[in-house]
Amino acid sequence: MSTATPLKLAILISGRGSNMEALAGACARGVLAARVVVVIADRPGAGGLDAARARGLETATLVYRGERGAFERELGAALERHHPDAVALAGFMRVLSAEFVARYLGRLFNIHPSLLPKYRGLDTHRRVLAAGDAVHGASVHFVTPELDAGPVVLQSQVAVDPADTEASLAARVLATEHVIYPRVLGWFADGRLAWRDGAAWLDGRRLTAPLVEDFRAAAAP
Ligand code: GAR
Repeated sequence: MSTATPLKLAILISGRGSNMEALAGACARGVLAARVVVVIADRPGAGGLDAARARGLETATLVYRGERGAFERELGAALERHHPDAVALAGFMRVLSAEFVARYLGRLFNIHPSLLPKYRGLDTHRRVLAAGDAVHGASVHFVTPELDAGPVVLQSQVAVDPADTEASLAARVLATEHVIYPRVLGWFADGRLAWRDGAAWLDGRRLTAPLVEDFRAAAAP
């Protein structure tokens, strides 16, 4: 772990917040050289808020009132109070405008439950099962204005079992999300991962394809 000042990390959630917990846990264990400065939810009932508070993290809740501009002004203000070096979308189910993304370009990350560019958008596990894919996974990527289309840094791969249900597959993918998201943020915090010329760079090399962590042989979670 780096001995430099920890990266100030803001995390945005909409629901249960297990990825937020994985990130916060990695910070607490010292394997991710970052400090969670705020957890922001766009839903007052987001389960992750309680989990964040239980960890002693600062939280904020914003309510979307049907106008994206107003919501994003509130969100920007809530973030800037904490001067984050990086912002992690962790199950944050709201599409951000190009203007908002531009403000955080190069330090705004997302985790998506599919092997991007396959299955952008919603219901990824159901679509994978319907297509009969043998391999599925999750992707950590830099956020750019186009939904789920920014440069992917790292993907996890899991095997799809013929007996899988949407729930069993989602659970197996989620367990890998909790590994790869802290890993990517750790690279960023350590200065190994950077955004340059519209691409992701790791250790001074431009990533021309996502890195892959293969969990297919791993025991079921
Ligand atoms: C995760 O599977 C995450 O990849 C997905 O939502 C879930 C949130 O779970 N994100 C998206 O679908 C974004 N398009 P969590 O609240 O327990 O982290």
